[in-house]
Amino acid sequence: MFESFKVPKHLIPSDPRFGVGPSLIPIEAVEKLAKTGHELLGTSHRREAVRKVVQEMQEGLKAYFKLPADYEVVIGNGGATLLWDMIGLGLVEKNPHHFVCGEFSDKWYRANKNIPWINPEITKVEFGKGINPVYKTGADFIACTLNETSTGVMLTELPEVPQDCLLAIDATSGAGQIKIDFKKSDLYYFSPQKVFASEGGFYVAIMSPKAIERAQKIAKEANRFIPESFKWSHAIENSRQNQTYNTPAISTIFFLNEQVKLMNKLGEDAVVKEAQRKANLMYGWAQSKSYLSPFIAEEKFRSLAVATIDLDEKYKADDLALALRAQGVVYDIDAYRKLGRNQFRIGLFHNVSYENLEKLTQLISLAIEGA
Ligand SMILES: Cc1ncc(COP(=O)(O)O)c(C=O)c1O
Repeated sequence: MFESFKVPKHLIPSDPRFGVGPSLIPIEAVEKLAKTGHELLGTSHRREAVRKVVQEMQEGLKAYFKLPADYEVVIGNGGATLLWDMIGLGLVEKNPHHFVCGEFSDKWYRANKNIPWINPEITKVEFGKGINPVYKTGADFIACTLNETSTGVMLTELPEVPQDCLLAIDATSGAGQIKIDFKKSDLYYFSPQKVFASEGGFYVAIMSPKAIERAQKIAKEANRFIPESFKWSHAIENSRQNQTYNTPAISTIFFLNEQVKLMNKLGEDAVVKEAQRKANLMYGWAQSKSYLSPFIAEEKFRSLAVATIDLDEKYKADDLALALRAQGVVYDIDAYRKLGRNQFRIGLFHNVSYENLEKLTQLISLAIEGA
């Protein structure tokens, strides 16, 4: 349908990467890493040079999020997916309650539901709908997802939970761009290949003293087997030394630190304001065209980080995405595959500029209106 469509020169974005993760890593950061020569890559992560980068990144995140002084930035290898297992094994007591609104929040639930000694409950909405978590009586753990990457839904409110319950937030694709009140959060974690523009295979877990205490308490339970590499105690102790339990990819930490510095120059409020401006552009465009519509009906749940826009069945979103990729001008705007919708899913992450999003809207419109 779109084989003959050619993007005019003036609409070619300066960077083709619009994906929701892995996301756009600035070329400047890659060049900066190359310039470090033999100082970082290929050196011990337990020595000063790398530990300084780790420390700068941890301090940078504390400043960016304005974390309470007693919260800790815990890091490790494996990403959010590994954390789902680490959480089920080492932070949940017995009765977690999961709020599920898409594929990733469901995967977290599914990862935990078969652990024999825990008994998870679930509140689930149809994919495409939003849901705010609330405290459930008897729960010792509330699990929610800040930004459901598969559907483009963000949550807008967090509950207060009592002392014997932890509030845990998978912030993977929202962290940095969707604000929360950290005083309410006990565990806020993300993989850095989204807003924080790094590589995958790594996690950041921001823990409250209550969460650290829970990890320490569970670690002492004699009848609970936790594999070595899943132990929170190793992650916490190493993070306090600006290290990871096992060997990390140093480039991942480097890129994450560069992005934290970049975003700290503006501060979280300015970053969020720009995200809102980009979201207004995208959803406004979707509403202004008869052949488009925002997938998320309820406006307040429309994500500031991942825009999902449905396309009239007369046209094929996948065909257009393919034609644009073939020309090397736009990558990765396809819908989440398991959602099976005729849809564009577009990253509004900090490094994806307003100007390039504007061009993207114009070139998509041009292609469809000329089809
Ligand atoms: C909300 C959310 N949670 C978890 C994950 C899994 O992250 P990872 O692949 O880094 O383990 C993703 C990945 O896209 C995600 O979007």
